[in-house]
Amino acid sequence: MVRKLISISTAVAVTMGCSMHAAADTTPEDAADYRVAIMTTLRGHIGASSMTVRGLVEDRGQLVNHAQGLANSAMELGNIFPEGSNVGESEALPLIWEEPEEFAAAIVKVQDASLEFVEAAENGDAEVIGGAFRNLGMACRGCHDRFRVAHD
Ligand code: HEC
Repeated sequence: MVRKLISISTAVAVTMGCSMHAAADTTPEDAADYRVAIMTTLRGHIGASSMTVRGLVEDRGQLVNHAQGLANSAMELGNIFPEGSNVGESEALPLIWEEPEEFAAAIVKVQDASLEFVEAAENGDAEVIGGAFRNLGMACRGCHDRFRVAHD
């Protein structure tokens, strides 16, 4: 299963270059707004997942849905950083386009972690779910710490 997950992520990383050319008609402002919209879906799903994982709300089967939502949005990450789209209020650092391989690796990491979280949520073992959730959170943070404007 792990090998399957890795090959899916590799395929996404390989198609990333083509997708960026396809976005040539999108204005930088729209690209930045779309990126924030995708990140906001990630925030919603991760917040709801966190409350479920911590047992603050009962898991009525929604955890799998949130995990799938996270994985779906994570699969879009390779398309939402066209060069030159760090305009206006954007907190995307130029390093994203200066270190494209490292940035692509950060995307693959979160994609793999999100797929593992889906698998854990489907399996239902609390310890495995907790571990997969923490890994996913670290993958988000790993990219933010390096490629996003620092927050206090
Ligand atoms: C590969 C890098 C990368 C990964 C992985 C990543 N992010 Fe982000 N995220 C960014 C960057 C860069 C920005 C700043 C975007 C901008 O302002 O143009 C951002 C912005 C955000 C924002 C702020 C949106 C706003 O209102 O301005 C949230 C919330 C967010 N990310 C959540 C997440 C979550 C949750 C995950 C993990 C599931 C995640 N991100 C994974 C790079 C990443």
